[in-house]
Amino acid sequence: MPEAVLAAMHRQSMDLVDPRLDAIIENCERGLLALLDAPDAHAYLYAANGHGAWEAAIANLVPLDGAVLIPGTGHFSESWAVQPEGLGREVVRIPWQPGLPIDPQTVEDALRADTAGRIAAVFVVHADTAGGVTSDLAAIRSAIDASGHPALMVVDVVATLAAEPYSMSAVGADVTIGASQKGLMLPAGLSFTVVGERADAVAHANPAPRFYWDWLRRKHAVGYRKFCGTPPQQLLMGLEASLGLLFSEGLESVVARHRRLAGAVHAAIEAWREGGAIDFFCQVPQARSVSVTTVSVAPGHDPDAVRTVARERFQVGMAGGLGPLAGKAFRIGHLGDQNEATILGCVAGVEAAMRSLGIPVGDGAAAATRYLARG
Ligand SMILES: Cc1ncc(COP(=O)(O)O)c(C=O)c1O
Repeated sequence: MPEAVLAAMHRQSMDLVDPRLDAIIENCERGLLALLDAPDAHAYLYAANGHGAWEAAIANLVPLDGAVLIPGTGHFSESWAVQPEGLGREVVRIPWQPGLPIDPQTVEDALRADTAGRIAAVFVVHADTAGGVTSDLAAIRSAIDASGHPALMVVDVVATLAAEPYSMSAVGADVTIGASQKGLMLPAGLSFTVVGERADAVAHANPAPRFYWDWLRRKHAVGYRKFCGTPPQQLLMGLEASLGLLFSEGLESVVARHRRLAGAVHAAIEAWREGGAIDFFCQVPQARSVSVTTVSVAPGHDPDAVRTVARERFQVGMAGGLGPLAGKAFRIGHLGDQNEATILGCVAGVEAAMRSLGIPVGDGAAAATRYLARG
């Protein structure tokens, strides 16, 4: 989290009807719509983590006798899939292909097979944070269109927002879901659904009971009513500041920085692979996420030991493998408030941890340095 964001959050709460609070909320809504390139959509913010915004999409869009189609991307598509089931809806899953992005043809086929028209929406995770694999949203949109099925397209950009280019209007997504704690560089606890006209109409017509998540109830001019209660003021102050930082750096520069830093991490992994114990989990180079890279570790070596040594001896915090990747991988995050120095420090710390554990690796830190030096 950048200092400017932390400083912006270090302020007193205001009276809930203070016009300065209304202005902050409006700046956040406007900023998110600009960030997503969704000028005609409506932003609903929730004092909730990403799971809350996931639930909002289900509650508003899916009738009790309806279904959602969820193409498997790994741990996060499956974590999303169990939610509609928990809320009594049917889920049609497309099996996850480990290390590969969503195959758009499978989406078209699954929609064509839904002759009863029960699928209300396709829930797509843009980049699955567990595997570090990014799927092609434009191709998935074309597959939905080619099927002739009216299902809505709901896109989770939690891991890609403010890192990958994303235009909700160019993609033709009906709803976009994001959360505060990744590219927006904030603490967890604020999430959003940005809702286009068609999805708004579907929500209007959906008789399923709901209250807290209800978009209709939250479409209100009064600031605290938009939150169905007290707004999370300091998170909103932080979001206003982080949007300001992103726009002053320029979205193209933000995207280019993420690409450059991801490229340095990928160059390091290419070199580490030479030792035979380390590999990319994502098998398609163009689909490797610019936000997070999942590093597979060969049997006989312990990725969680690498994480412990990296953290305790070299001051580098890393995430572990999730779900089916537990005990088989570690993950290097390279999104948000990162620069060349933090990424080179990270790569060198991870390499030092692997070397100290006797894991054979090539010269990754040197490769990352050379990659960045080339410019
Ligand atoms: C891609 C993706 N979607 C959704 C979520 C869920 O967000 P949260 O943990 O804030 O509930 C995460 C969390 O890491 C994620 O990476």
